[in-house]
Amino acid sequence: MHWMVRWAGPFPIFVDRGKGAHFTCVDGHEYLDLCLGDTGAMTGHAPEATVQAVVAQAQRGFTFMLPNEDAIWVAGELSRRFGLPFWQLALSATDANRFAIRLARHLTGRSKILVFNYCYHGSVDETFVTLQDGVARSRPGNIGPGVDPTLTTRVVEFNDLPALEAALAHGDVACVLAEPVMTNVGIIHPADGFHEALRRLTREHGALLILDETHTICAGPGGYTREHGLEPDMLTVGKPIGGGVPVGVYGFSAELAERMQSRIALDECDTGGIGGTLAGNALSLAAVRATLEHVLTPGLYERTIPLAQRFTEGVEAVIARHRLPWIVKQLGCRAEYWFRPEPPHNGGEAVAAVDSELDQYMHLCALNRGILMTPFHNMALIAPDTTEADIDRHTQAFAESVAQLFEDS
Ligand SMILES: Cc1ncc(COP(=O)(O)O)c(C=O)c1O
Repeated sequence: MHWMVRWAGPFPIFVDRGKGAHFTCVDGHEYLDLCLGDTGAMTGHAPEATVQAVVAQAQRGFTFMLPNEDAIWVAGELSRRFGLPFWQLALSATDANRFAIRLARHLTGRSKILVFNYCYHGSVDETFVTLQDGVARSRPGNIGPGVDPTLTTRVVEFNDLPALEAALAHGDVACVLAEPVMTNVGIIHPADGFHEALRRLTREHGALLILDETHTICAGPGGYTREHGLEPDMLTVGKPIGGGVPVGVYGFSAELAERMQSRIALDECDTGGIGGTLAGNALSLAAVRATLEHVLTPGLYERTIPLAQRFTEGVEAVIARHRLPWIVKQLGCRAEYWFRPEPPHNGGEAVAAVDSELDQYMHLCALNRGILMTPFHNMALIAPDTTEADIDRHTQAFAESVAQLFEDS
């Protein structure tokens, strides 16, 4: 886990076991988990229905390189939730994005993709591009890119429609890959009318629209897409849909399916650069079926979204009490505080407010009070087993950390 080098504190926590919204470390300390595997465990740890389905499937075989009945059920349920009729399986959200991008390039015959500044879509080569002083450059820290990613990718700021239009006007963009709300550089909501314009402009310029719901599935059972009636050509999601068991899926419209059939040579498709031997394995499918049927249900959101609201209000009250120039943003069952006075409109603005030392301090204070926040951001995700008392425990820890910050300075 390469990111552990940025861990707050002198040693990592080694986990013994987790259940619901809590885990215990090998030293026997119990933690409230607001990181939740950074969304892989949004369902809570070891959800009962998923555990039972995985155990039952393990006894019947892990992987066959053949479909089973769960595949039919899962595809049907994904269609019902997200409104796209056809689905493919991968082992991670990263792979789902990689495969969706390949299909987009293949179908449009165009070479480039477009992403928003400071996006994160997994370790997808094409996405490691940021704007530096307004110029697209390989993102600092990008390890061993095969080609300069500015050759493969156009990048504009989120919510910047003139820049989006100008970038698409080159006519070489196969697809826009976007989270419908940015979540990996703070929560950045789309401005009014942004999604309508994004859809109109992509259609006008012949680019496909891929929405990545891997984190924004915190907004509802059909993600932000369904909550807000968005109409992507493709949709990708992974992490919590298997209750934490590795899986990624990508869905596409009937129109795209038709184009694929006429553009993909079936006798060569196994070397086409998408898919994988374990993609669609029986274990992942059993996990997804049980999770979608019994865990990641409308009831989960009815329970968790009000708790995220309680988290937001608790933190806001402390911020107001100390007159701090900080904000809290909420998206469904996810909330995050950020060290700037106004909500950022885009990734560039959000990154300018990063204070790594303060981040580390807040994380360490939380850890010392038995609470794990999502590393690098100050993000909290609420599981169905999280309680009001858990949320208030965080508010109390947050209040103490802030008070101590000013006492000590
Ligand atoms: C929006 C988004 N998409 C895709 C991914 C990649 O997920 P994974 O690392 O499970 O492949 C992430 C990971 O954080 C993500 O935040």
